[in-house]
Amino acid sequence: MSNTILIGAQWGDEGKGKIIDVLTERADWVVRAQGGNNAGHTVEVGNERFVLHLVPSGILHEGKRCVIGNGVVLDPAGLVEEIRGLEARGFPAAGRLFVSDRAHLVLPYHRSLDARGEALKSASGKIGTTLRGIGPAYGDKMARTGLRTGDLLDPAFPDLLRERIDAHNRTLAALGGEPLDPAAVIAGVEAAIPTLAPLVCDTLPLLHEAAARGEEILFEGAQGVMLDIDLGTYPYVTSSNAVSGGACTGSGFPPNRIDRVVGVLKAYTTRVGEGPFPTELSDADGEALRAAGREFGATTGRPRRCGWFDAVVARHAAMSCGVDGWALTKMDVLDGFDRIKLCVAYELDGLRIDTFPANIRAAARCKPVYEEMPGWKTPLGAIRTFDALPPAAQAYLRRIETLTGVPVRILSLGPRRDQTFDLP
Ligand code: IMP
Repeated sequence: MSNTILIGAQWGDEGKGKIIDVLTERADWVVRAQGGNNAGHTVEVGNERFVLHLVPSGILHEGKRCVIGNGVVLDPAGLVEEIRGLEARGFPAAGRLFVSDRAHLVLPYHRSLDARGEALKSASGKIGTTLRGIGPAYGDKMARTGLRTGDLLDPAFPDLLRERIDAHNRTLAALGGEPLDPAAVIAGVEAAIPTLAPLVCDTLPLLHEAAARGEEILFEGAQGVMLDIDLGTYPYVTSSNAVSGGACTGSGFPPNRIDRVVGVLKAYTTRVGEGPFPTELSDADGEALRAAGREFGATTGRPRRCGWFDAVVARHAAMSCGVDGWALTKMDVLDGFDRIKLCVAYELDGLRIDTFPANIRAAARCKPVYEEMPGWKTPLGAIRTFDALPPAAQAYLRRIETLTGVPVRILSLGPRRDQTFDLP
């Protein structure tokens, strides 16, 4: 039996969806424990491409069961749309998807507040959120004014919702925003209830009983460590815990039952939205990474900022998540480069540092200290063993292991399932 937490080790978009899809072969349950439909996990099955936002990617594997845990914030209309889309493509949710009655709801006023909040910020203060209402929904959760999935089943739900709409309309008006029509909001949310109600339950005993039977549980992290509310580049972060600990608090599954943590690490770095990014490239190399890696957001379609691999970031992820092994993705995107750079440390105000500073203004002043390695200039997409990699690619991978102190256990050299293999 092996219960695994999978996390994104950079700023999200590391290729988690694809690795989760591969690891799901061995799992019985796949659990989302944080984030909401700000995530976009892309999985290619045969010639079909799926982008999942809330539903764990285990749904694409027959017989696997999926849980949306208490730590997720859930947009009811968004989830219904996703469920219908999956059903239409032959992946029904009934009996396979279970939604925690403790998961908080993302409601239309959260989206309005997200948009209004971003609009009011100065150009340099904008976070560049996905505008899915994630921050305001977690804000309500922490302020203890949120509504939860279980509330959808309560006869008092329309009254509870109306109360919240009135309160949020006052905030929206104070911010110069458009108040929402309470009747329309209530009708919209109520329309989702018939689809969601049969899926909502207490997911805690489900997971505990599954573990007691020796079934394997895979926790599917969303976003990445550098977007974690506590350990990321605050305030340019999302509003949940993307580190491994978030899998436990976000599902009610205890840390002492976790057997391993897999960190998904892209062979270079990307970021969507604002905030410091020491190895960002605004030159032809950055453009080449974006084009070769098809680096456009799965949720928002925004072009991703691209840069070289950053070992400071990877070490930060290894430390904060207890990563046992990396799943290294998209190394094939570097196929065309003559020389490849790796950031091994930063220079901050004339001093060399090898950890990521908490102070965001200091982080913005960090200059990468690079090492350069020769490129392999060979397509890697058809390779299936470490030994078959060109020596320069082997050296690049080994250097990442040395710089981070964590072995690469899984290597992914393309978007398809069959382009991923284990390393000895
Ligand atoms: P929010 O989560 O919509 O509040 O956005 C906060 C920050 O996290 C922004 O920079 C987003 O671009 C980023 N973000 C949120 N979800 C993801 C994701 O799944 N992948 C990459 N970036 C994300």
